[in-house]
Amino acid sequence: MPLQGAAAAGELVFYVNGRKIIEKNADPEQMLLPYLRKRLCLTGTKYGCGGGGCGACTVMISTYEPTSKKIRHYSANACLFPICSLYGAAVTTVEGVGSTKTRIHPVQESICCQRKANGKCCLDQEDDLFDNEEKVSTNLFSTDEFQPLDPTQELIFPPELMRMAENEPKRTLVFRGERVTWVSPVSLGELLDLKAAHPEAPLVVGNTGVGPDMKFRGVFHPVLIAPARIPDMNVLKYTNDGLTLGAACSLSLVKDILTNAIAKFPEEKTRIFCAVVQQLRTLGGEQIRNVASFGGNIISRKSTSDLNPVLAASNCMLNLASRGQKRQIPVSDIFADGVGNNTITPEEILVSIHIPYSRKGEYVSAFRQAPRRENALPITSAGMRVLFEEGTDVIKDLSIFYGGAVSTTVCAKQTCWTLIGRHWNEQMLDEACRLVLKEIALPGAADGENIDYKKTLMVSFFYRFFLEVSESLKTMDPCRYPGIPVEYGSVLQDFKTRMPQSIQIYQEVEPSQSPQDPVGRPIMHQSGIKHATGEAVYIDDLPLVDGELFLAAVTSSRAHAKIVSIDTSEALKGAGVFDVITAHDVPAANEFYFYDDPEIIFARNEVICVGQIVCAVVADSDVHAKQAAAKVKIEYEMLEPVILTIEEAIKHNSFFEPKRKLEQGNVDEAFETVDNIIKGEICIGGQKHFYMETQSMLAVPKGEDKEMDLYVSTQHPAIVQEMVAASLGVPANRIMCHVKRVGGAFGGKILRTGLLASVAAVAANKTSRAVRFILSREDDMVITGGRHPFIAKYKVGFMNDGRITAVDAKYYINGGCTPDDSLLVAEVSLLKMDNAYKIPNLRCWAYACKTNLPSNTAFRGFGFPQSGLVTETWITDIADKTGLSPEKIREINMYKKNEQTHFKQELDPENLIRCWNECMQKSAYCNRRKAIDAFNKQNYWKKRGIAIVPMKFPFGLGTPYLSQAAALVHIYTDGSVLLTHGGIEMGQGIHTKMIQVASRELNIPMSCIHFCETSTTTVPNACASVGSAGTDVNGMAVKDACQTLLKRLQPIIKKNPTGTWNDWVKEAFKQSVSLSATGYFRGYNECMDWEKGEGQPFTYFLFGAACSEVEINCLTGDHKNLRTDIVMDIGCSINPAVDIGQIEGAFVQGIGLYTMEELKYSSEGVLYTQGPDQYKIPAVCDIPEQFSVSLLSSSQNPYAIYASKGIGEAGFFLGCSVFFALRDAVTAVRNERGLKKTFALNSPLTAEQIRAHCTDAFTEMMANKEAASSLDHICVNDKP
Ligand SMILES: Cc1cc2nc3c(=O)[nH]c(=O)nc-3n(C[C@H](O)[C@H](O)[C@H](O)COP(=O)(O)OP(=O)(O)OC[C@H]3O[C@@H](n4cnc5c(N)ncnc54)[C@H](O)[C@@H]3O)c2cc1C
Ligand code: FES
Repeated sequence: MPLQGAAAAGELVFYVNGRKIIEKNADPEQMLLPYLRKRLCLTGTKYGCGGGGCGACTVMISTYEPTSKKIRHYSANACLFPICSLYGAAVTTVEGVGSTKTRIHPVQESICCQRKANGKCCLDQEDDLFDNEEKVSTNLFSTDEFQPLDPTQELIFPPELMRMAENEPKRTLVFRGERVTWVSPVSLGELLDLKAAHPEAPLVVGNTGVGPDMKFRGVFHPVLIAPARIPDMNVLKYTNDGLTLGAACSLSLVKDILTNAIAKFPEEKTRIFCAVVQQLRTLGGEQIRNVASFGGNIISRKSTSDLNPVLAASNCMLNLASRGQKRQIPVSDIFADGVGNNTITPEEILVSIHIPYSRKGEYVSAFRQAPRRENALPITSAGMRVLFEEGTDVIKDLSIFYGGAVSTTVCAKQTCWTLIGRHWNEQMLDEACRLVLKEIALPGAADGENIDYKKTLMVSFFYRFFLEVSESLKTMDPCRYPGIPVEYGSVLQDFKTRMPQSIQIYQEVEPSQSPQDPVGRPIMHQSGIKHATGEAVYIDDLPLVDGELFLAAVTSSRAHAKIVSIDTSEALKGAGVFDVITAHDVPAANEFYFYDDPEIIFARNEVICVGQIVCAVVADSDVHAKQAAAKVKIEYEMLEPVILTIEEAIKHNSFFEPKRKLEQGNVDEAFETVDNIIKGEICIGGQKHFYMETQSMLAVPKGEDKEMDLYVSTQHPAIVQEMVAASLGVPANRIMCHVKRVGGAFGGKILRTGLLASVAAVAANKTSRAVRFILSREDDMVITGGRHPFIAKYKVGFMNDGRITAVDAKYYINGGCTPDDSLLVAEVSLLKMDNAYKIPNLRCWAYACKTNLPSNTAFRGFGFPQSGLVTETWITDIADKTGLSPEKIREINMYKKNEQTHFKQELDPENLIRCWNECMQKSAYCNRRKAIDAFNKQNYWKKRGIAIVPMKFPFGLGTPYLSQAAALVHIYTDGSVLLTHGGIEMGQGIHTKMIQVASRELNIPMSCIHFCETSTTTVPNACASVGSAGTDVNGMAVKDACQTLLKRLQPIIKKNPTGTWNDWVKEAFKQSVSLSATGYFRGYNECMDWEKGEGQPFTYFLFGAACSEVEINCLTGDHKNLRTDIVMDIGCSINPAVDIGQIEGAFVQGIGLYTMEELKYSSEGVLYTQGPDQYKIPAVCDIPEQFSVSLLSSSQNPYAIYASKGIGEAGFFLGCSVFFALRDAVTAVRNERGLKKTFALNSPLTAEQIRAHCTDAFTEMMANKEAASSLDHICVNDKP
């Protein structure tokens, strides 16, 4: 379609990292992220989600404003930033900040290393190793150790861009792409003409609304109009009655302007400004607020808008314009029809927004509750305003608006009218709540939403408004208006995020240890700096291979169906499409039988879950591949049954075999003699791995002998090699699998990756081209499984003094559609279910349910996080029943002496008890318990809770051959050493530790040793890097190889003891001594006899304890993690910096499982939570404000390298201390309100669940909707 009234397409001029870019063919559909990564080969900016939700793609944008002569620098998400918006701007990526090739910026340095007392940073570690005066700080990441940024390092804005802005007259910019035209007019008149000609064309300012619609929801716009340069749309004008702001102003700018106004004007005038700023503080993330426009947020009319309710309630006005017409309407008008179809015509645009000053006697508030406190769309938001008759508490005007309730912002109009003329008192409150619930009709639950929670929030927000206004009335006239009880006051303060303060305590190495020996020292991760500078290379950072194709998967949209037909004709016609690959193209094995049911590469005749790969499109770009994949038509015939949940699997008797059981003592007899029996059930939701690097692979056929190089993000190159070879029908020796590093895996990159790599390899084999397959975040979430959802049914017998004598439990895990590791997960959940407790009589079953969900797989902790939570749950149930504290029940039942576990393995619990006692003492548990009780007495709507949880974490893989390992060490004649082993670097620092091992063994500095990659060509048949075992087993192999080499060098060293390493190496070469050696570790002698229910499946045990304190807001269910103290026994840490990082990371991931990460599926098995927008993992605001990790001192482990212990997983379970602290806080609420003692909480314990269990008159209104109960017992002037 020719674009009317626009100039010819022009050149796009901008700068990146000081380099001028002239783009002659700027494509309006091109976002900055792929442009940087693919076009400019600046791969430091990463892809994480593509939707503005994760921040991995953050860059800095700088612009120059010639009239004010001001340069504005701001952060932005490159994934949503159209390159066409960049005209005249400068982009700084992480490469422009600093690099190892030029200089590392102090901020990058601070991200990854500590500055020590001597002023040196750990980058200078080699020097330090030889520095006898070295003092290692016990505080790795104290903020006050960070160096302030050098002010002279102000970034230079390109002078040419300044000249361009000042000298070049502003002209209309037009860019034409393959499918879309971009027009950026410079005057309002021109914009209105364009809009008249193209009424359907959206205005694009921040692209945070249009971008996701085009990317994820298939919305297509042939014309995009960018109005950001129009002065009228950027105005800032103070008038007599308020402030007018241009619609194109960014939300950050609006926040700054309003904050300044709040400081400048009297409080009485700025109440609306304050309420708007309140919402802007937590709306989206900073990168979103920096680009998203004020007008865009309003006009999008999204139900989740934080701003619209408060703007509408405050009588803000919209200044609209169309060709030849201007008008002003209240914000509320745009929702007047209740569905968001509006009064604004397609030709009209929003020019500016007028925010009035508040008046005397007028009070305004805004509220929101989101699944996470920061960077999360609200579940419910609200804006409320009341105006009183002068000098009274009689309502003259009232506005209540809600977001999140229906498809757009909604007004409780009738309620407000009814309440006009009423006094601001409890009767009014009572009636208001009932009227609101009656008036705002919420549709039935969709997308897994809980309607009752939303309704509870609606009335809870009004109650909070009621309290706020009551306090304000008191300020006005304390004699007439008594305000609210002091116990209620704290709920008026929102939780604030403060910079977490953390302490890490570990034992320094013995003074006698050689200063050159790095073992036991907190050495920085070898790639730490490269992580901070973006130079660490991941799969999609690899340069393009000549002729490379991109692959996009076509997945099943049905949970269980017969494939009737696959029509690829339209897809094959797509631009740049090369081929479509199906099961018929697999030369050999399409199915793999590790158990009775197969793992499948391409679905052949039948699909067994939504997200199963049916076929794949290969094309010349990822965009073309994805566009074509969407055109493949698959016809299905639904099959019965569709089993999604554990309950449905039980009903259909759908299980993977065998079922497992462990039993000890005489359970039935023991139940006869106990004082009490409790029965319960707990559901634990699943969890996505949410590694930052999505599943990624590049298959490169080498052109001869059927050889293929595979670059894969996997924890298990050998299985990838094996599966790819089997699918191509070639011997494994033709498949070379390479792994430099993996951007997070957590168990999710083993079998699943083998299947995905086979898809890429089959495509590469068919096309004889290199094929790149990088899953988008949504595809990754939909195609791959995660942690197993879990249901436990338990019966526990105990004595009145708290001794547990009998347990009978059944565990059901949702395995998904194929076995994967589900049976092993079920077994481990049984083996570790006792956690830290001796249970004399125990019977426990585990069932792996076969369902029509994507196959669930290994995940950090492997079944223990679930079964351990069940155990701790019945511990707290017993505490409730006996009236003893949970910690007392824990102490009474904890392993105390050398004893046998329930599968008859010997256990020495000494360090368990030490960890527990040390954690009790370090956390000052007893004193804080008292302080919390006192706090809870003084606060009615906010409560604190505390919990301390012990942990026994058995280490082992259950089968000896699974822990074998090998290493290969070469010494070159210049003295440098190349180290290889079978372990995979997933961020956990294994290569750093292995270099430490080699450094100690060869007695050379770490700087002489290099690790290049893990590869099936150097170390064959390596076991997966799983189960915290990487360092243990590979460390032994590296040690073995180094010792072999040193033994060979020994005669030379003996002959020339004063020589240097290089002298010895050179001499060895001259004497034809081999300078290359392999090392090997046979593995641990572990076994388990499931028939007998006994064995030695573990080699040793780690121990730990964590104490966490939280505060909850009883009105919203929101919570804050105040403090966590962890004590861990990890033997003699090889690298305390890396190990403590593992403990902290695992703990926070545990917080995610137990308190926030929630997967939601439709009744047809479609995953709703497909990205960081809907699926919330912990963010900085969820890290405990005070976070201390101490490693237990003087702990030895005779079974592992240098007396260390494998630490990758253990810290995860301790995240449940937050779950139980929350439970403690909820218990305090319920006790105060005289509610039933026992109550059941499921995981994750989200804000919704917390709110529902803090039962009060508002929640009762939901339970008894018709006859909503009176709010008598929470009225303001009665004592609770
Ligand atoms: C990751 C993420 C998190 C978010 N979190 C939140 C949150 O917590 N709370 C919240 O409220 N919002 C949130 N948002 C939504 C965000 O605030 C809006 O998308 C944004 O304000 C829209 O502004 P924009 O300039 O990016 O709009 P664009 O995408 O550029 O445009 C959006 C729409 O508005 C129309 N439009 C824009 N300006 C005008 C105008 N002047 N006149 C007429 N029509 C116009 C366009 O035609 C288009 O239809 C989030 C968005 C993302 C991507
Ligand atoms: S990739 Fe851009 S925010 Fe996630």
